[in-house]
Amino acid sequence: MPVTVRAATTDDAAATCDVIRRSIVELCRADYGSDEAFLARWLANKTVENVQRWISQSRHFLVAEEDGAILGAASMTEAGKVLLNYVSPDARFRGVSKALMQALEDRARTAGITECSLDSTQTALRFYQSLGYQPTDQSYIHPVTAAPALALAKRLRPADPSR
Ligand SMILES: CC(C)(COP(=O)(O)OP(=O)(O)OC[C@H]1O[C@@H](n2cnc3c(N)ncnc32)[C@H](O)[C@@H]1OP(=O)(O)O)[C@@H](O)C(=O)NCCC(=O)NCCS
Repeated sequence: MPVTVRAATTDDAAATCDVIRRSIVELCRADYGSDEAFLARWLANKTVENVQRWISQSRHFLVAEEDGAILGAASMTEAGKVLLNYVSPDARFRGVSKALMQALEDRARTAGITECSLDSTQTALRFYQSLGYQPTDQSYIHPVTAAPALALAKRLRPADPSR
């Protein structure tokens, strides 16, 4: 069965939380290195209860699913800021994150948003650049992790009214 992207429901919270945590721990070593305290701060709010709340409060919290398994998750504010985008280590480089970002950008265009923005990890920087995201002058030191947050943004082409 192909990978499908759909809006998350609160029933997805536990599996989604697991994907987010594994993605950080297993894929983002370039970001946290051997700094276990940094990793612990990053993971601290990635609980099932919080993911459930984020899903229920967000209009744009999406999951990628295949055969009933959650392979990735991404969310965006109503102003077009991508808050999270994580793929399962079991599904890396299969187009999951690209499909999730495409779906968020489609939703943004439909809502009349002209620009998407995000803070990239080091791990995902090349990925976002290949999607057309460019550095802005908004980079800062993250107050929780103390890591440099790489602020990127992309101008969106307007929605095609014929679609
Ligand atoms: C880098 C990452 C975001 C890519 O997502 P993915 O679902 O594995 O990748 P996709 O198959 O959707 O996209 C592949 C693209 O990733 C990029 N890519 C390929 N190899 C890469 C690598 N070693 N490192 C980073 N990006 C790479 C390329 O642009 C590739 O596009 P192409 O196939 O057209 O060349 C993901 O693997 C990852 O590491 N996520 C960790 C969590 C994270 O950092 N999330 C971002 C929070 S802001």
